[in-house]
Amino acid sequence: MKILVTGGAGFIGTHTLIELYRAGHTAVVVDNLSNSCHEALRRTAEIIGVDGIPFYECDICDRIRLELLFCDHQFDACIHFAGKKAVGESVEMPWEYYDNNIGGTLTLVDVMRRHGCRNIIFSSSATVYGEPAEMPITEACPKGVCTNPYGWTKSMIEQILADMQRADPQWNVVLLRYFNPVGAHPSGRIGEDPNGTPNNLMPYITQVAVGKRAELGVFGDDYPTPDGTGVRDYIHVVDLAAGHVSALQAIGRGCGLEVYNLGTGHGYSVLDMVKAFERVNGVHVPYAIKPRRAGDVATCYSDPSKALRELGWQARLGIDDMVRDSWNWQRQNPDGFAAD
Ligand code: NAD
Ligand code: UD1
Repeated sequence: MKILVTGGAGFIGTHTLIELYRAGHTAVVVDNLSNSCHEALRRTAEIIGVDGIPFYECDICDRIRLELLFCDHQFDACIHFAGKKAVGESVEMPWEYYDNNIGGTLTLVDVMRRHGCRNIIFSSSATVYGEPAEMPITEACPKGVCTNPYGWTKSMIEQILADMQRADPQWNVVLLRYFNPVGAHPSGRIGEDPNGTPNNLMPYITQVAVGKRAELGVFGDDYPTPDGTGVRDYIHVVDLAAGHVSALQAIGRGCGLEVYNLGTGHGYSVLDMVKAFERVNGVHVPYAIKPRRAGDVATCYSDPSKALRELGWQARLGIDDMVRDSWNWQRQNPDGFAAD
């Protein structure tokens, strides 16, 4: 298939491009590089073994540029990653998040349908479950109250795409709810390159390990979990990327509207992650217990069995692979892509 990948220069997008090409698909990337760079795409092409990946530096809110892009290409489907994703920033700048994430999606899907492409895979998040009503979380778990505007953009975009599919059954919409993506391509050439202070656990750990930050703050050790720290379902980004290729099968058979959790089904605590990182990589990660972070839940892990049953997809890489590849990337690129 020929796939439009919005946000394809980002962390999950670049890894997904590799899996798409490996599976025999081709891709065109649209990205405004607001949180990524040319170098990420250059290295991704190098890993794939192609001269370059067709790329449009363009904002998905820019209807005219998107129209021109769709005049140049006939797409079978769109994998839609483009969006702002910093939870804290979304609390400070809600309008910018709603405008970029929801406004961009509305423009994208309108241009898609005008050009006869009604197949979309959307990057959603386990955050839409809010304080989850069940554990492990199945797709039947009701959506909950999000704790920040970023989460609401995911929840609202899911609703918009579902409503559009119900009104026009020619649409095939796959909502992928990611749990906690970590790791990097095993080559160490591409990985997560956060701007400023990382919000998420794994990039914080790697920046402490590489000496850029003094210690990790562990947000709370009094949760009702085995060691008191928060439990999450970390998933290797290479497994997550492969999940998108599997989701194309659902699109291919005319799935209508489908929702899949992409997780491993295993929960690890913050301290489990720190200890695994130290054990596998032989480096020390100093940490200090800090107060709980507002909006955090104690425990969140998936039941990923629907994706296995219906898509034949399951995560193959474990916690040791995740911490090894995260470190491999950070060690080789202490300043992310900036060094090049
Ligand atoms: P990322 O920031 O690395 O990638 C997103 C890409 O979208 C960036 O390259 C950015 O430049 C681009 N972009 C943003 N707004 C755009 C716009 N208006 N027009 C064109 N391009 C735009 O993030 P990621 O970690 O690769 O996440 C990809 C998607 O998955 C996002 O939608 C994110 O919300 C979602 N997601 C991520 C996680 C996670 O932990 N990484 C978890 C759940 C869901
Ligand atoms: C967060 C977001 C979620 C988003 C996801 C992926 C919040 C409340 N949730 O999920 O909306 O979809 O990232 O981007 O921000 N931790 C520490 N110290 C740190 C960082 C994290 O102890 O410096 C702990 C957290 O308290 C949590 C675990 O590590 O228990 C994972 O945190 P994080 O990586 O931020 O992911 P989530 O909070 O699950």
